Amino acid sequence: MVTVYDVAQACGLSIASVSRALNGQPGVSQRTAERICLIADQLGYQRNEVARSLVAKSTQTIALFVPDITNPFFPELVKGVQSVADERDLLLLLLDAPRSAVALSARLAALRRKQVDGILLVASDIDADTEELVAGTPAVLLDRGRSGRHASVGVDQEAAGFAATRHLIDAGHTRIGHIAGPQGLAVSELRRAGWERALREAGLPVGDHLVAVGDFEEEGGHRAGAELLQREPGITAVFAANDLSAIGFLACCSVRGIPVPEQMSVIGLDGIGLSRYTTPMLTTIAQPIRELGVAAGRLLLRQLDGDGQALDVVLPTTLVEGASVSRRGGA
Ligand code: RIB
Repeated sequence: MVTVYDVAQACGLSIASVSRALNGQPGVSQRTAERICLIADQLGYQRNEVARSLVAKSTQTIALFVPDITNPFFPELVKGVQSVADERDLLLLLLDAPRSAVALSARLAALRRKQVDGILLVASDIDADTEELVAGTPAVLLDRGRSGRHASVGVDQEAAGFAATRHLIDAGHTRIGHIAGPQGLAVSELRRAGWERALREAGLPVGDHLVAVGDFEEEGGHRAGAELLQREPGITAVFAANDLSAIGFLACCSVRGIPVPEQMSVIGLDGIGLSRYTTPMLTTIAQPIRELGVAAGRLLLRQLDGDGQALDVVLPTTLVEGASVSRRGGA
């Protein structure tokens, strides 16, 4: 086993100096400490990770907050971030991002005490306290949050909602409902705004009576869909704010004997793998999920390398035509 003595011998320095360097204690210049640590690593000396991080002023650890690991959208996002973390041999901590800004702030404060090198945050909404807590640590807002102070990566959520609804309009539908995302989330409001803009620009009916609020999950899609069908039996198409909600609505139509797409057209948003295996296959506006994770990871690495520009990276979505949309009335 390689000892401190062996390292001192190899460096031509005293054991005291080598020990101070390896344990991140003062009394050795940064340059000398880094040289000692490099030689120790080359010899295969097993160093104390906490001490190592004190010397390198880096814990080689980044943290990713996601709001719901049960939603298949997020594991795909994590894979993208992980692929970039692997390039730098960074440890990726995956944490739950609570809806409440207070709970999130508490978690961020606890994380900062761990001195992670950088944070990626899919936060439902970024309030001033959250901003403050993230300030001073390299950070990238991912998917849901945007703020002038931090770099961000996502898609144009309003345009995605517009594209989904426009696809239904182009198929001849004129009474189009919307299963919205959870209330209070910017991402939900933006997708609904896209639905509204598409209908207004086409001179078609629009309003709260055509909207039911889901929760980005299958159960919420099923429940909101049932509410919508009850309230507005004349609708012939629905834009659901995410794929899981659309999948829940497909089940809602199935139990009511409403054939999709013959009698009801359905379009989702996300492009999760599951959406390719529904019956009928879900038509959706696909986000480049893994690429979002990769882009966010790369932006964070740029910040770790000293480039702190608060860039907003917007990636394109694509229409994936399944079999859940047909021309109005199946014509
Ligand atoms: O499906 C979960 C939703 O939350 C996705 O649409 C993604 O954009 C995230 O915000």
